[in-house]
Amino acid sequence: MSDRQLLVTAALPYANGHIHLGHLVEYIQTDIWVRFQKLRGRKCVFVCADDTHGTAIMIRARHEGRPESELIADMQAAHERDFRGFDIEFDHYGSTNSEENYELCKDIWSSLRQANLIAEKDVEQLFDPVAGTFLADRFVKGTCPHCKTPDQYGDNCSKCGETYAPTDLIDPVSTLSGATPVTKSANHLFVQLEKQHEFLEQWTQSGEHLQTEVANYLKGHFLGNPLRDWDVSRPDPYFGFAIPDSPNNYWYVWFDAPIGYIASTWQWCKKNNESLADWWKNDQTEIHHFIGKDITYFHTLFWPGVLKAAGYSLPKFVHIHGFLTVDGEKMSKSKGTQVQASTYLKHLDPAFLRYFYASKLGPKLDDIDLNITEFINKVNSDLVGKVVNLASRSARFVETTGLAVEYPHDGGLFSTAAIAGERIAQAYDELDYARAMRIIMELADQANAYVENTAPWTLKKDPTQHVRLQEVCTVVLNLFRQLCIYLTPVLPRLANQCGQLLNANISSWSDSQTPLVGTTVSKFEHLLQRIAPEKVHAMIEESKESTQEPAATTPTVEASATPVDSGDALLQEPLAPTCTIEDFTKVDLRVARIIKAEEVPEAKKLVKLTVSLGGDNTRTVFAGIKAAYSIEQLQGRLVVIVANLLPRQMKFGLSEGMVTAAGPGGTEVFLLGIDSGAVPGQRVH
Ligand code: MSP
Ligand code: ZN
Repeated sequence: MSDRQLLVTAALPYANGHIHLGHLVEYIQTDIWVRFQKLRGRKCVFVCADDTHGTAIMIRARHEGRPESELIADMQAAHERDFRGFDIEFDHYGSTNSEENYELCKDIWSSLRQANLIAEKDVEQLFDPVAGTFLADRFVKGTCPHCKTPDQYGDNCSKCGETYAPTDLIDPVSTLSGATPVTKSANHLFVQLEKQHEFLEQWTQSGEHLQTEVANYLKGHFLGNPLRDWDVSRPDPYFGFAIPDSPNNYWYVWFDAPIGYIASTWQWCKKNNESLADWWKNDQTEIHHFIGKDITYFHTLFWPGVLKAAGYSLPKFVHIHGFLTVDGEKMSKSKGTQVQASTYLKHLDPAFLRYFYASKLGPKLDDIDLNITEFINKVNSDLVGKVVNLASRSARFVETTGLAVEYPHDGGLFSTAAIAGERIAQAYDELDYARAMRIIMELADQANAYVENTAPWTLKKDPTQHVRLQEVCTVVLNLFRQLCIYLTPVLPRLANQCGQLLNANISSWSDSQTPLVGTTVSKFEHLLQRIAPEKVHAMIEESKESTQEPAATTPTVEASATPVDSGDALLQEPLAPTCTIEDFTKVDLRVARIIKAEEVPEAKKLVKLTVSLGGDNTRTVFAGIKAAYSIEQLQGRLVVIVANLLPRQMKFGLSEGMVTAAGPGGTEVFLLGIDSGAVPGQRVH
């Protein structure tokens, strides 16, 4: 009970849209912090939930002709799948449309009533008589009352920038039905935030709970004047919780959404035999909220005010981050830069984005830019070129011997990196991931310089150097492991792979302080592949297309990770020495059609092929593909042949070329195909 413990939340994503790369800035940032705290051995619980209520969901469900409950269940499944795909690991993921949330809303509401913080007022609002619903500002369009520009939303004009009430619009039209809205009055309930002005002034300005920029912003924009009453009810029809003591009124979505943090914690408590009071009414618990800058007001004024009045713990800190831009601009559907999480996962490894965001995130509110070229270069040069490279250049040399039994002299590399651990930890703790990544990459540079100088691949060739080889690889793999430990919060999969490779799981930050010795080394498996720029472009292309679909469709695409290709093939047959383009053009590769395929009964491996290069240019070619292809499979298909190869006399006849294929042989032979449209005789460049 008396131990300090952390409760961490990320904002509850709206159930009316899919998770995209912008949202992921927040969920990845929070997940890294939670993983870091857990790795440091702190008791830390990470909860989140879907934010399910509101007019938008109600309207969408109507359009789709199904109950809201079905719509939100589908969306929640999609959100959870996306988060899993990015290794974002919540201890509990709930929903604001839960019984627990309703109970808590009632409890908090009655506290607000008792504290005399609720006022009632009639509000005139536009009502759509055809759709039978009051209209939120963005469901009304009309002519700007100031500059007379047509087709403007109900809250502000995109031309002249004036703000106004939707009732001020000239010739208003409901975007739901096209009907002309009527003005209708309804009773609304308000929280009188001004009554907590003094408390909020002190809480926001104490320097303990908010970033300085945020505290200053609140002081400048809100706290200098009386705080406005906050409208927390919506009249029927509305998708949400009915307010028990106010017939025909529902709590506005922003009233029950943050209470969802408590509800989700409660569900976690029930699963884990914990008491909710230990988490939300206990000053030994540090509550940390992570949010984007657009929802600052709700979390730094409204929410602390409600918590205070209802007797719950206040957040220890509200951590606010900036917005994502792509190539320096706001994400755009038409440019394909508003990429959904599930689309990303079809093309790329989640580790790439986790690392890139980590390398960009600092403790301030600056927007972060996903520059596509920088993304590709940074991931390839840092993760693949500096980190994974250490293992791929050393592990296979100690597959049979394991690590040396005593840690060899390494010129102080391991101990320097061990000492750097505290600086890295501090950077993580302060949410300065960019600084943490910089320190880690400096250590990686030192490790790579060691590999270059000791050149294990050269030692390997000299049998008298095999003890030295084992020593060198012991050093390199320990430096690699240290980096993986420091990167665990960002790259949990890499940390697991490292654990498997060296047969020692990474379970604590302190694992970075002692080298491994005398342990076995598993067969080296591929860890992370480079980003192929084509894949990034394919992802962006696909994001352009999907904007044509109505936003309301339920997800059908399974989030699937990038196929993980092992590096074995390349290890079996290393790359040939560099050749020039002139060397390459000496080989004349041509598209050819197999017009006849025949068995060669006496030959174990060979098939006799007659291939056509178009017209009456035919050749006879013998190919060692008997075990891999049947005669029928070959007949008629296109292949790529080496057309200017010196003819070779074989036991069964003259072979006038060679069919190209990959694979080690036997049944594992894969003929090169060519996309449809190619014709026999065309050269392959
Ligand atoms: N439902 C509310 C939050 C309720 S919390 C009680 C909401 N949902 S949201 O889906 O619109 O956004 C979820 C989080 O993602 C917010 O913190 C928001 O700031 C963040 N982001 C959404 N788009 C973003 C970017 N383009 N860039 C960075 N963060 C972004 O707000
Ligand atoms: Zn205007």
